[in-house]
Amino acid sequence: MKNKIPTHVGIIMDGNGRWATRQGLKRTDGHYAGYKRLKQTALHILSKGVKVLSVFAFSTENFGRSEEEVSYLMSLFVKAFKSDKKFFIKNNIKVVFSGRHEPLSDEVWNVMREIEESTKDCTGGVFNFCINYGGQSEIVDASKTIAKLYKEDKISLDEIDTNTFYKYLYNDLPPIDLLIRTSGEIRISNFMLYSISYSELYFTSTCFPDFDEIEFDKALDDYQSRNITKGKIK
Ligand code: IPE
Ligand code: IPE
Ligand code: MG
Repeated sequence: MKNKIPTHVGIIMDGNGRWATRQGLKRTDGHYAGYKRLKQTALHILSKGVKVLSVFAFSTENFGRSEEEVSYLMSLFVKAFKSDKKFFIKNNIKVVFSGRHEPLSDEVWNVMREIEESTKDCTGGVFNFCINYGGQSEIVDASKTIAKLYKEDKISLDEIDTNTFYKYLYNDLPPIDLLIRTSGEIRISNFMLYSISYSELYFTSTCFPDFDEIEFDKALDDYQSRNITKGKIK
């Protein structure tokens, strides 16, 4: 369909470290630049009519990085979510998070819960931050939730199908229509495995701190030029 706007866009925001190293900066400077870029590009994406934006900000595997980098990122999350609460409210954006609690500190966890609570009535788009997130764990956790509800006689197995399964993921969001990965890596890295089953995939060599409005529009043009068949013949 021509000029169709994806309902849900996912971005694997990769390449912050390389972007910084290439210009003689510290990797952590790249994360700061990436966060600044995210705010700007996200507003543009939602202004196009996209309803949900999911971004991969920190994977469960990212805890394996140096202590310095992990603690920089954790304090960036705390600072950003504290100081940008107003930004999200002003732009009417509902913020949600996907991921496990452990081993995030209470400080990080509480600031996440607080911004979720403050923006819960916003209606201008959903911003899903995946932090301490793993796609396989999300499916396992959803399955455990279902098993628990079944044991407590709160659901019947007939209620579970591929559509209703979304309800038990970290957030009940529609499937991802367009998945973008920056920085030239051609892999999924455990991102939203259930929700990307029929996503259109777009890979760009641009590192995330340079992924601006023009770069998103290129991805959107590419998406709109595709013949999305979903198993049918069109
Ligand atoms: C993505 O950029 C951000 C996070 C994973 C937190 P990277 O930090 O992975 O940047 P590169 O891939 O090393 O360049
Ligand atoms: C994926 O990026 C995770 C995020 C963007 C937060 P990585 O840079 O960690 O991915 P891999 O492990 O190199 O594939
Ligand atoms: Mg990377």
